[in-house]
Amino acid sequence: MIPHSIIEDLKHRCDIVDVISSYVPLKRAGSNLHGLCPFHSERSPSFTVFTNGEPHFYCFGCGAGGDVISFVMRIENLDYRSALEFLAKRAGITLPDDERDEKREVGRKRILEMNLCAARFFRDCLFDDKIGAPARAYLEKRKLSTTVARRFGLGYAPQSFNSLRDHLRRNGYTDEEMITGYFCARSEKGNVYDIFRGRLMFPLIDVTGNIIAFGGRVLDDSKPKYLNSSDTPAFKKSRNLFALNFAKAHAEKRLILCEGYMDVITLHAAGFENAVATLGTAITPEHARIIRKYTENVVLAYDSDGAGQTATNKALRILSEAGVDARVIKMDGAKDPDEYIKTFGAKKFASLLDEGRTRFDFKLDNILAEHDISVPEQKIKAAALITAEISNVYSGVEREIYTAKAASVLGLDVKSLQSDVESAIRRRARNEKKERPGELYRVGMGISDRVNPDFAKHTKAARLEETLLGLLMLRKEYLKRDVRGTALTAADFPTELGRRLYEAILAGEEAGGFDLGLLSESFTQQEVSRAVSMLHRRQQLTDNGPRIFEEIVLALRNENEKNRKKTDGDDFLYHIQKKRDELKNDASRSDT
Ligand code: UTP
Ligand code: MN
Repeated sequence: MIPHSIIEDLKHRCDIVDVISSYVPLKRAGSNLHGLCPFHSERSPSFTVFTNGEPHFYCFGCGAGGDVISFVMRIENLDYRSALEFLAKRAGITLPDDERDEKREVGRKRILEMNLCAARFFRDCLFDDKIGAPARAYLEKRKLSTTVARRFGLGYAPQSFNSLRDHLRRNGYTDEEMITGYFCARSEKGNVYDIFRGRLMFPLIDVTGNIIAFGGRVLDDSKPKYLNSSDTPAFKKSRNLFALNFAKAHAEKRLILCEGYMDVITLHAAGFENAVATLGTAITPEHARIIRKYTENVVLAYDSDGAGQTATNKALRILSEAGVDARVIKMDGAKDPDEYIKTFGAKKFASLLDEGRTRFDFKLDNILAEHDISVPEQKIKAAALITAEISNVYSGVEREIYTAKAASVLGLDVKSLQSDVESAIRRRARNEKKERPGELYRVGMGISDRVNPDFAKHTKAARLEETLLGLLMLRKEYLKRDVRGTALTAADFPTELGRRLYEAILAGEEAGGFDLGLLSESFTQQEVSRAVSMLHRRQQLTDNGPRIFEEIVLALRNENEKNRKKTDGDDFLYHIQKKRDELKNDASRSDT
């Protein structure tokens, strides 16, 4: 099996949109792109590339679907290994062999050493009487004590183009290493110079205690305010959180996720040692998976401005998809946690933490803030938006609670809101059916399914199985999650294809992480398409939390149990078969 890290690297370098665009003209519509399907002939575009979540393509006309690797396999007619080589060549890299991995490991160690050397240098500059004076004055202005500065390993990069460079040279590092480590750059004339100049330096420390990167803040209002290390062989910003090295010991109850380094430092200094932040980037699914290792509960304390609220929305989705229960606090009168604590104090902030709003309440608040519900037209608009939100929720119980709440804030009748929610759900089901390609449509009818011949045997269980597999591809942590005391096993999956997919996801995960790209190695492209359609349908829904998972597993187990007892009342084919048998019996009887 090809290691997950290689597939990931390849996918990182070969953006699915770039690759597909070189074969198919694509038009953007929101976060998706449309074009004419290269795998069947059509006049109106039903081929879609999805860039949110797990990037994939899917054709609503012929059902072809997959990731960038399976796209290349299909369009270039290549086997798995050749498709990987094709993409590697496109990205200008050769697929690494073991020897190369070793070299990379050496590079990483060397950079970590250099980072430590640089961090010491920055710290010494900060506490140097003369050199560090402006930075220490700035810390004072921000009410940041020396103790806290020392605890976080803060430093100062002097206002100079060569002081770090010369220091690192003296310690035996080459210019090439400094460039790879993102400390230096080379000018057009060929001079190597320091990137961080006149900045307060925040080292980023990983959970094992290595210094892996730096963020640097200017001391005045000049731009850019922060400069961060870009990815190096020792650092990937999508995979690390600032201050997690401290916060991990206090994470069990919950983590506080902020936007800025300063927020985190102020929170820690005020006694909230469970605060973390991403590093000059929006939260990624990888961040969410890391967070989930430490806790199930996150309080989001992003900036109160528009950008912060948009980021909050995104974080809510990504965290909930990783099985994290995220709440949002409202910091009235302050733009961020740093300012809030300095204005209102730690006690007041502590009470905010327990008043975190759920995702639904957060959305409800936002919709209400944007509409004046004393004006009928606006009230109708607000109600429509809220109904759409509720109709996305899988759990009936939750829908009921939200509907009641929305009805009361809007001053509307629960019944009428409820019927709007139901019609929104029906509308979506209709659209989904319309979008289903011929093959899948017939499958839905339980008539024939060449890709999954077992589907028709127990259509209801098989549909639940598809939902479950879609969810598992989205949320690998459910693979190990107990439902009523037992985790999933292959026996929970009623069809052969379902079992094989389950086992492939499990094996991939155990070998370092499942990726859609791994499927193409041992499944046919039609099977890959089917798997992608399962993932795709699940990804369209906003709610993929652990409770949904439990509901689906229980429903599936229940259905399997019924089937075992041969009393499946919903199975369409079973009835046809029974009718046939009866007719046959009648016929044979009348023959004799
Ligand atoms: P903010 O602008 O909210 O900064 O950016 P802050 O942390 O509150 O800093 P102060 O209080 O002004 O000192 C939030 C985060 O976004 C990233 C940094 O990680 C920052 O902590 N950022 C911001 C950048 O990477 N580059 C920038 O130019 C600005
Ligand atoms: Mn701030």
